[in-house]
Amino acid sequence: MAQISGSADVPDMGRRQFMNLLTFGAVTGTALGALYPVVKYFIPPSVGAVGGGVTAKDALGSDIVVSNFLASHPAGDRVLAQGLKGDPTYIVVEDNQSIANYGINAVCTHLGCVVPWNVNENKFMCPCHGSQYDSTGKVVRGPAPLSLALAHATVTEDDKLSLTPWTETDFRTGDDPWWT
Ligand code: FES
Repeated sequence: MAQISGSADVPDMGRRQFMNLLTFGAVTGTALGALYPVVKYFIPPSVGAVGGGVTAKDALGSDIVVSNFLASHPAGDRVLAQGLKGDPTYIVVEDNQSIANYGINAVCTHLGCVVPWNVNENKFMCPCHGSQYDSTGKVVRGPAPLSLALAHATVTEDDKLSLTPWTETDFRTGDDPWWT
């Protein structure tokens, strides 16, 4: 028959092990916390993205579900989403109630304010210094020097919206994209 160790030792051992566990937890927790930004850097921000892109997310950080999105946004709407590099990006609802194949980066090219969509004026109008952009994000009034950046917007098979870098000619100006 195996001997059970003295009952007086049991609470001590238990406490020591518990303290060891706490210390281990604190150390590894700290180490993991320090590693988090490094690890996160190497993990793609969203599963299902293609070609260096991201899945567009709503204000709560959830993937936008295109059918739900279209059901709740009228034709002509411009709706902010989280896009490439986490930049606020407008999703464009076309007149035929589909999503445009481009998204518009909402960061003003003057000094970086997020530019609101003004539905009555049919323009993006920056509250910081008065720059204006037309409904496609093309600059129409300074001091902003450049149009808003573009991203490709593609509806995926699983009803999500993929945003990928726009590296081709800017269809609004005919110029090479300044943002690549
Ligand atoms: Fe938009 Fe200056 S930041 S006009």
